[in-house]
Amino acid sequence: IGHQGHHGGHVPQPSAGTVGATHVTFTPFTERMPVPPVLRPSRTTGGVDTYTLPIRAAEVDIIPGLRTPALTYGGQFVGPTIRARAGRPVKVAFVNELDQLTNVHLHGGHVSAANDGHPMDLIAPGATRVYDYPNTQRGATLWYHDHTHGLEADHVYRGLHGFYLIHDKAEKRLNLPSGKYDVPIMLRNAQFDEKGALVFGHPDNRTTVLANGKAQPYFPVAARKYRFRLLNASLKHVFRLNMGGVPMTKIASDGGLLPAPVSREELVISSGERVEIVVDFSGRLDDSPLYLYEGENPILRFDVSAAHGRDRSSVPAELVPLPALGAATVERQVSMSFDMSARPPVGLVNGRPFDPDRVDLQVKQGATEIWEIVNADVTPIPFDHPFHMHLVQFQVLSRDGGPPLPEDAGLKDTVYLPPRGTVRIQMTFRTPYTGRYMYHCHYLEHSALGMMAQMEIVP
Ligand code: C2O
Ligand code: CU
Repeated sequence: IGHQGHHGGHVPQPSAGTVGATHVTFTPFTERMPVPPVLRPSRTTGGVDTYTLPIRAAEVDIIPGLRTPALTYGGQFVGPTIRARAGRPVKVAFVNELDQLTNVHLHGGHVSAANDGHPMDLIAPGATRVYDYPNTQRGATLWYHDHTHGLEADHVYRGLHGFYLIHDKAEKRLNLPSGKYDVPIMLRNAQFDEKGALVFGHPDNRTTVLANGKAQPYFPVAARKYRFRLLNASLKHVFRLNMGGVPMTKIASDGGLLPAPVSREELVISSGERVEIVVDFSGRLDDSPLYLYEGENPILRFDVSAAHGRDRSSVPAELVPLPALGAATVERQVSMSFDMSARPPVGLVNGRPFDPDRVDLQVKQGATEIWEIVNADVTPIPFDHPFHMHLVQFQVLSRDGGPPLPEDAGLKDTVYLPPRGTVRIQMTFRTPYTGRYMYHCHYLEHSALGMMAQMEIVP
């Protein structure tokens, strides 16, 4: 990953927004960024919260003045947020009101194989499927999305994505900004035609960046600290984010809080990854407007107003220690590449395209393993691939034979591999579950083309 430091000081020139390749224009920063509503349980019995969420086609407002047909959870382009507590199980009844197959995967969730949204384990049109989420893991920013074999890219692109947040006691003690000051922000790109319809075209034309499903919105904030949970839900994109030199305090990655906060001026987030930051807007009242930029492009404006009352939140110098790594007893190599001689190209893991009937490797429950993940693409146009593993989080030991990057810190379930990149990761399969789980490229167009494999957890 190239790291050009941000040199700050540039004044944003918010020109009319450009939509995809068709150049539909709109006036940016006229609409407020929505915060996805928190879903309320339809039932709470015996310490279990049960939610009901229809999956249905709906028209949504993304581009000012236009309507966009989408596939949605509960009618919203960014589905409702489920806020769970560690140790308290959740059941979600997903009702498939689409005219096609779908399913739901909880990305980052430690769940049984039957509840993991295996690509062949689908919900028929008209059917309801209840997924059990035990929440036996650290507090973290997870997300739920479609994982239908071969259609995951199309479905997620059209809106089948939402946040699932787990809160835990360790986090509570830290007194981080919470409640309405704890804001999930789903970032993704898209391409639209002049009527506002999503175009499932070439990734390079998906130039409109959406923040919680809005193109260039503004977000009113008080002059105090906020926790932002950033998710890259793009099918294929790497965000390089900055706030024009304003420091962002990174506190968490995919699998939960870091051992200690780190101040960053730039964040690099590839598809599927999450980064949590705290931004302090106190003392920013009189400033010219603050923006979140992708490179030089403003994608979200923060409008700072006076805070009501004192900000009692804090960012302690120590957060939550990482679990001990332990000694690994198994080493494996996993490569990702394309067979470009095929039309369309075929995605490969260790030289083979995904076969739902084939188990690619077996892992013993409780085993600690080191995997070397290699981007083996030697095509003329080199591809990058974010590697994602289901069921457990890992730690990155090294990258390209050297130390990990700042982006690799903490507990991860998705890690970026630039062309010819290699990372070594370590994880312990500490799980009561057995069965089949996916690992794949999180460019969902690549996984749909076969860049996916499955491991079987065995006793
Ligand atoms: Cu976010 Cu296998 O997926
Ligand atoms: Cu890929």
